[in-house]
Amino acid sequence: MANYIPENILDDILSRIDIVELISGYFPLKRAGRNLRALCPFHHEKTPSFMVNPQKQIFHCFGCGKGGNVVSFLMEYERMDFIEAVKTLARKTGVELPKNEASSKSSGLITSLYKVNEFAVKFYRDFLNSASGAAARTYLSKRSLSNDTVNLFQLGLSPDKWEGLFNYLRTKNASPALLEKSGLVSKGQNQGYYDRFRKRLVFPIFDVKSRVLALGARLLEDAPGMAKYINSPESLIYVKGRHLYGLNLTREAIRKEDYAIVVEGYFDCISVFQAGIKNVVASLGTSLTAEQIRLIKRYTRNVIMVYDSDQAGQDATLRSLDMFIQEDMNTRVAILPVNFDPDSFLRKFEAKAFRHILDNALGLFDYKLGLLSSRYKIINPENKAFVAGAMLDSIKKIRNPILQAEYLRRLAQALDIKEEVLISELRKIKDQKPYDFREFFRIPDSKINPTERLLMRLILGETELITKIKSVLSPEDFQDARIARVFSLICELISKGKDIEPKCLIGYLDDRESASLISEILAADEHSQEDSEEILNDCVSKIKKQRLNLRCQSLREEIKLAQKQGDQGHMDSLVFELRDLLRSGSCLEEVK
Ligand code: CTP
Ligand code: MN
Repeated sequence: MANYIPENILDDILSRIDIVELISGYFPLKRAGRNLRALCPFHHEKTPSFMVNPQKQIFHCFGCGKGGNVVSFLMEYERMDFIEAVKTLARKTGVELPKNEASSKSSGLITSLYKVNEFAVKFYRDFLNSASGAAARTYLSKRSLSNDTVNLFQLGLSPDKWEGLFNYLRTKNASPALLEKSGLVSKGQNQGYYDRFRKRLVFPIFDVKSRVLALGARLLEDAPGMAKYINSPESLIYVKGRHLYGLNLTREAIRKEDYAIVVEGYFDCISVFQAGIKNVVASLGTSLTAEQIRLIKRYTRNVIMVYDSDQAGQDATLRSLDMFIQEDMNTRVAILPVNFDPDSFLRKFEAKAFRHILDNALGLFDYKLGLLSSRYKIINPENKAFVAGAMLDSIKKIRNPILQAEYLRRLAQALDIKEEVLISELRKIKDQKPYDFREFFRIPDSKINPTERLLMRLILGETELITKIKSVLSPEDFQDARIARVFSLICELISKGKDIEPKCLIGYLDDRESASLISEILAADEHSQEDSEEILNDCVSKIKKQRLNLRCQSLREEIKLAQKQGDQGHMDSLVFELRDLLRSGSCLEEVK
């Protein structure tokens, strides 16, 4: 349950406040059928796609995807955190909050997962500081990380054992099932479990509230055939691409400096931070996601990207630039000398040199044009047309018309093409693919598995259905962590004999993504109710199948790895498990 506010109090607050009244206090709403509409306050738009539904007491923007209940609105609009928003509403409605917020009950599985991760971090840190951690400590100091930095980022070391962490966490009374859900251990042969991370440096990944979501782990010595980094798998609390490494430590600096430096790797982020440049985050992988960009946007609209200077880094930078434009952010690109990343640069040169590189970061236009012109000689007319097209592709996404006109003028100059030709070309490509904000913003949402979305929609429309599927589906069956979270919450509420009211449901979830997800599902056109049971059955078996496939896939990968490592015993057990799984999959139970 969300953040230490007892449910009954939250329900009380929500029942006393009207979302239309609250939002109308900020800006006018116009009636449109059953709903009310307005220009969305959360993104730039010309036609209103922000809607408020008085019956369901939710808001949703079809443009940017933000949505939720009164609490979510205050969180977004006033940039409050959950507790602040609830307190504000409590004051407005005269509801008294209990004095001791921390005394309320725990929130089940999700809290347990955070707890287990926290214990794991402690275990790995202690091991790094023990006698067995000497080599790893030497490695870290060779990489110029100070003790203070190692402690601040809470780096650790995993032992070279199969059950080191597992045994430790068992002494903390964590059940094997919970540990498996956390992804810290995997299940092996005959109910055996083994640690996921062995003999690796461990980097905890925190959310902005400094809760441990997941762990990343690096080999101490690069070894052929072994992945340099491995990560916790996705879980109820961790969805890849939705967080930024370091943000918990750097968000205040980002807000203060009013820009964020975005780098790729753990070490890059840590080294830049250690050099005294504290407004930095890492994307952990090559391409930024729209969700990560929006996370930055909460603190600033300005970004400097500093990725590796190799071709992969350049391509990732180009892709990210277009996403930044779509989010109406200002982005520049700092360019490191060839074969350097921020971490290796800072090991060789001083912070001053790095700052100099930041100061000379290129704007999107200059960076992209420079890169394309160096790759394609523009003396050749075909290349020139290609470069112009690629540039227009970015320019068409710019929302500010003045900026757009200015870039067109500069492009015409740089390529020696008449400006009118570029303008008419721009119009043409705009016509080919009309500018539709929905499409741009829906991209991350479309990652939600359609079957899971449909199932959620059915359940939210007809909550009795949940009793039918509670016994055949569990939260882990879902691929989308948000859906899993909502599903487990609904199950929990039902088992307590509570009614499921959308606005309350949103209230119990303290994360914006789940709130937006529910509001989007509810705001979408209502599904026809006929055959809902049949559709439900269909969804359940599809979801089961998808989950089975994923597990098989990961087993196959583990088998490959075990084979590579020559671990015959482990391999046999994995093969056995795979065979078992495939057999059971052929006779999935139907919902009764
Ligand atoms: N990464 C990953 N899995 C891999 C390789 C990379 O998750 N197999 C992610 C890690 O978050 C890593 C980032 O991508 O930090 C950048 O990768 P890379 O440049 O290869 O590593 P570095 O961060 O430079 O690590 P190091 O300096 O230790 O070699
Ligand atoms: Mn590196």
